[in-house]
Amino acid sequence: MIVAVAGKGGVGKTTVAALIIRSLLGRGLKPLLAVDADPNNCLYEKLGIEVGATLGGVREDSIHLKHEAPAGVAKRDILEMEVQSAITEGAGFDLVAMGRQEGPGCYCAVNNLLRSLLDRLAGGYQAVVIDNEAGMEHLSRRTNAGVDVMLFVCQPTRSSARTVVKLKELADSLDFRIGSEYVVLSCANGQPEAAVQAEIEGAGLETIGAVPEDDAVLRYESQDESLLKLPADSAAAAAVDQIVEKLIEGGRS
Ligand SMILES: Nc1ncnc2c1ncn2[C@@H]1O[C@H](COP(=O)(O)OP(=O)(O)OP(=O)(O)O)[C@@H](O)[C@H]1O
Ligand SMILES: [Mg+2]
Repeated sequence: MIVAVAGKGGVGKTTVAALIIRSLLGRGLKPLLAVDADPNNCLYEKLGIEVGATLGGVREDSIHLKHEAPAGVAKRDILEMEVQSAITEGAGFDLVAMGRQEGPGCYCAVNNLLRSLLDRLAGGYQAVVIDNEAGMEHLSRRTNAGVDVMLFVCQPTRSSARTVVKLKELADSLDFRIGSEYVVLSCANGQPEAAVQAEIEGAGLETIGAVPEDDAVLRYESQDESLLKLPADSAAAAAVDQIVEKLIEGGRS
């Protein structure tokens, strides 16, 4: 299962992604691949690991490799080694940070190679969780060609819901396979207002769950503690446990 988390800036995407990884690991699903697709690289902090090289760096390096690859060593092999070096190991999961997206010059050949290497890599994991940067435009240039589940993170306000509707329209217009799409309400205590719900449902989106505002999340963050360590009685962690249960049930049916 490949799950991607998307939404506008600051709505709680990375928190939701980290808690999904926590829930999947708690269900014994390992190894997992965490993909930090935000160039600002924040997911690793919430997972309590240090990040090293990024795939953006691999991409840059391989441009220079064009002229320097030793005879007899396929560029693909070198790239594969570099991709491996951009993977950080955590407990039960690996993390790969995408780093910078492609610049104005399009390194299509390298990107194609990276895409096929990543696809092959993803096959070795029980699940892949992708934390996206805010917005959606970059998805069409992303190095993975599709996802099974797209979670649009939305705060319980009409403006946040309208943004999610726009993101969904954009995502649907791209050449990017999406199995199913759901809204995750973030920092939502209780039922959202009817107008918010109407906005979401009007776009044909279903809300899969609401993650409440949870002091424990803030406390762990301020103490630089991994969100993977949140106990099951943390309100946010418990809510994401339920979301993951629904996703897994949905995947089976
Ligand atoms: N359920 C929650 N309870 C309490 N605080 C939360 C919760 N979810 C997110 N926050 C807080 O909101 C802030 C933004 O969250 P987060 O980094 O997950 O958002 P984001 O959408 O990934 O942001 P960005 O667009 O910058 O990547 C964080 O400081 C986080 O602690
Ligand atoms: Mg984030």
